[in-house]
Amino acid sequence: MERILTKFWGDISNLPEAKKIALMYWTVAIVLFGAQLLFGLIAAYQYINPDFLYSVLPFNITRMLHINAMVVWLIMGFIGGIYWLLPDETGHDVVGAKLGRIGFYLLTGAVAIVVLVYLLIQTGKGNFFTMWFINEGREYIEAPRWADWGIVAVMGIIYFNVLATVLKAKKVTGLLGVLLVDLVALAGLYLAGMFFTPNITVDQFWWWWVVHLWVEATWEVLVGVLMGWALMHVLHTPRRIIEGWLYLEVLLVFGTGILGLGHHYYWIGTPEYWLGIGGFFSSLEPLPLVAMIVHAVYDAGVHKLQTVNRPALFFIFLQAFGNFFGAGVWGFMHTLPQINLYSHGTQMAASHGHLAFFGAYVATNLVLMYIALQYIRAPQGPILDSKTWKIAYVGMIVSMVGMVGALLVAGFAQTFFERAVGGATWQDYIVTQMHPWVKIPMYWRLGFGILFFLFYFVLVYDMLTIGKKKATEVEVKPA
Ligand code: HEM
Ligand code: HEM
Ligand SMILES: [Fe+2]
Repeated sequence: MERILTKFWGDISNLPEAKKIALMYWTVAIVLFGAQLLFGLIAAYQYINPDFLYSVLPFNITRMLHINAMVVWLIMGFIGGIYWLLPDETGHDVVGAKLGRIGFYLLTGAVAIVVLVYLLIQTGKGNFFTMWFINEGREYIEAPRWADWGIVAVMGIIYFNVLATVLKAKKVTGLLGVLLVDLVALAGLYLAGMFFTPNITVDQFWWWWVVHLWVEATWEVLVGVLMGWALMHVLHTPRRIIEGWLYLEVLLVFGTGILGLGHHYYWIGTPEYWLGIGGFFSSLEPLPLVAMIVHAVYDAGVHKLQTVNRPALFFIFLQAFGNFFGAGVWGFMHTLPQINLYSHGTQMAASHGHLAFFGAYVATNLVLMYIALQYIRAPQGPILDSKTWKIAYVGMIVSMVGMVGALLVAGFAQTFFERAVGGATWQDYIVTQMHPWVKIPMYWRLGFGILFFLFYFVLVYDMLTIGKKKATEVEVKPA
């Protein structure tokens, strides 16, 4: 393991155990990012040619692998981020490092087995055996029940690591306090995805507790902690300011996001009052995202963009703006019940889902990984910079915007022709699927997807090389 880490990240011999565990998680995360994209590409091609791999790896499996790989790598990335900042925030190396490593191997092993079962066995009868050992059938959290409990156990280990280390700290910082509370909520919500009920409405009711309350509440607060910490390291923003903003953001995120859950309860058979509650609170959800932009831009302005870590700073911008546009603007677009009545379940949701996950969560992970790269390869040295990160950065943004734009056009066309003009019958659906405004964007999505995949390799190349050649390639500017 040490050898792999050294190859990828550089000389890690002097790192505290916590940071080594972080790198273990991040290494797997980056590989799974690639797997996510590969399955996304196959799924995108199957949209155009449904026969492709039909009897070997059908669309439902490639799609599931695409979004499951995404959830797992993003979470592994966050876990890495938590281990990385732990020694800096507490002044101690992680307590229970051995256990932490075991947790990593358990999680990685479980993920590998689940993926193999998805690939080789794929489906089973609609009974408890299938639920326990093959696939649970709830979008994003399809992992079979045994793996669910494995994940809960690993989360317990991680929580123990964090709590025991924090308890040793001289002072529990505001960042750590928020982190401790948020992790309980985040792990606790996962349990809501495990209720078994034969009633599909009740099932969906609880399932959204995981999916929505993760991405629009607990994950959003977690990235608040991670990005706050990143701002302190990349721009030297004072802790007082970071923590003040963080409390405000927690208040706004939870204040709007918890009841914003109602925007998923419009049409699933829950009582009508959710129309009002969901519409009202979810419309306010962009507020904290605006606050985050103001915060990041203000800090960068105060420090006149002076930083020791260019890629991390620019991924911070991507995070602030991507979160605001992807989640805030693209989410707001279809969150009022009057609009959602027509747009529900169209490609608009996919357009929003891609931009939000990319902007809010992929960017956060990359910020932290670049902070680590600088810490390992250029601790006192020149500014961390290279040509290739810029190519990867611009390339990924352009191809993501291309995919999201294509899906948006298709989503508008569906909303208009199938729902508003048509009337949402099955025939309207079929006819609209063949409309050029829905068909052609699927080619665009594939094209931009291929581009995105290429830039992923540029990113990996940059991560492998940036800061290694130090003085020769990097211009040193006086501070
Ligand atoms: C980073 C935060 C966010 C992420 C990652 C995210 C992601 C997603 C994803 C993946 C879906 C599709 C779910 C499915 O498969 O059915 C979805 C649906 C939805 N999101 Fe978000 N979202 C975020 C924030 C927001 C915000 C802030 C709003 C509102 C302002 C919003 C409004 C909606 C609505 C209304 C739907 C349902 C679409 C439909 O009815 O088809 N989202 N979101
Ligand atoms: C190579 C680039 C990519 C391609 C070709 C691709 C393709 C696809 C396809 C074909 C689907 C299934 C859509 C459907 O069921 O109608 C999908 C779903 C999804 N993808 Fe991607 N994807 C790519 C990258 C990403 C990235 C980078 C993210 C975020 C980090 C992402 C997040 C998602 C999400 C959240 C869904 C579920 C959306 C929903 O249920 O509405 N994808 N993707
Ligand atoms: Fe939501």
